[in-house]
Amino acid sequence: MSVKNDVQGLRPLSEVDPEIAELIRLEERREADTLRLIASENYVSRAVLEATGSVLTNKYSEGYPHKRYYEGQQQIDVVEELARTRVAKLFGADHVNVQPYSGSPANLAVYLAFAQANDTIMGLGLPAGGHLTHGWSVSITGKYFKSVPYGVRESDHRIDLDQVRDLARAHRPKLIWCGTTAYPRTIDFAAFRSIADEVGAILAADIAHIAGLVAGGAHPSPVGIADVVTSTTHKTFRGPRGAMILCKKEHASAIDKAVFPGLQGGPHNHTTAAIAVAAKEASEDGFRAYAKQIVQNAQALGRALESRGFRLITGGTDNHLLLIDMTPKGIGGKPYAQALDRAGIVANYNSIPFDPRKPFDPSGLRIGTPAVTSRGMGVAEMERLAAWMDDVAQNVNDEARIARIAAEVAELCRGFPAPGIRV
Ligand SMILES: Cc1ncc(COP(=O)(O)O)c(C=O)c1O
Repeated sequence: MSVKNDVQGLRPLSEVDPEIAELIRLEERREADTLRLIASENYVSRAVLEATGSVLTNKYSEGYPHKRYYEGQQQIDVVEELARTRVAKLFGADHVNVQPYSGSPANLAVYLAFAQANDTIMGLGLPAGGHLTHGWSVSITGKYFKSVPYGVRESDHRIDLDQVRDLARAHRPKLIWCGTTAYPRTIDFAAFRSIADEVGAILAADIAHIAGLVAGGAHPSPVGIADVVTSTTHKTFRGPRGAMILCKKEHASAIDKAVFPGLQGGPHNHTTAAIAVAAKEASEDGFRAYAKQIVQNAQALGRALESRGFRLITGGTDNHLLLIDMTPKGIGGKPYAQALDRAGIVANYNSIPFDPRKPFDPSGLRIGTPAVTSRGMGVAEMERLAAWMDDVAQNVNDEARIARIAAEVAELCRGFPAPGIRV
């Protein structure tokens, strides 16, 4: 049947576009049979997938609930209100905006709400574990604002709060970011608050990586401390690809105006619905145990790796991720990540603080436990994982051995089915 004759559009994907259908099938297989150690990834539930793949994708709804520029919002208004109220309750926030398309646009909305072009802003530098959108030079946020990055101490690789205070006093930034993308330790939000207050800056906390830990009580919350909190919804929070901004009441209007009409047009209503579902799941009893287990698994994996000669940046972790300096193992982060991928263990190479190597071929590997914990794995599986990681590090060029490890990994994966995937 041709597309012309399928007026109802009810033909399945496998008929309409077998090429894409097959790629999705293969991706399901890959996700089921390999260990996902990328710290920013997770598996969403079937419920989140269903909401994401729903007819809500068909609807335009510029504006906010009950103040729209298009008619036909009977369901959409309720969906967005549910998402906002569930997130607000979960985090104890005054106001929530669930419309940002992803983490980067959410952060841009914060700039638009609180700063003018060329204002001074501060954030953790990318090489120290910060995100591009916190003012790094190659990002629009480093080009349109005067960015003064702070870093971590050379001695222990922890955020240097003395440096943050000194730089803030010297440069009087309009906006200070705290929050990280490759940092294994707790963020001291109160310390950032006192620095921001001293210089009259807005404090923005980006909890993209740790939102699920915060929601589950496994990391302190910046809500009520920072003026504004941004987060992606697809990492430890275990929702769809999207973002949310939480703020104090007095900033609600500035944030909403910055998202729409400041930066975006129509919200992605299918994503909004899936955020509502994820927030409901995160409010259920099991989520607190999940968040706690993520951290326990990361700490157990860290100990097991350390006992096998891996060097952990900061000597361990308080959260969901580990940053590993591969130098003592005599291999760069990139060839190691590639060898791990062939062994069915998927991670990403990463710069480490004060890395002597280039960002595209750095010394480090970043791993995280949100996804393996979603599969129900615990401390015992972390031991096995560390043993495989060591085996791969010692045998990067032994393809037969790597294939054997991949088969063992797939066998373990079969015992811990990935949520949301029917294979
Ligand atoms: C701390 C932090 N903020 C923002 C982002 C950006 O999110 P997105 O990739 O959805 O734009 C990330 C992504 O990894 C992140 O780690």
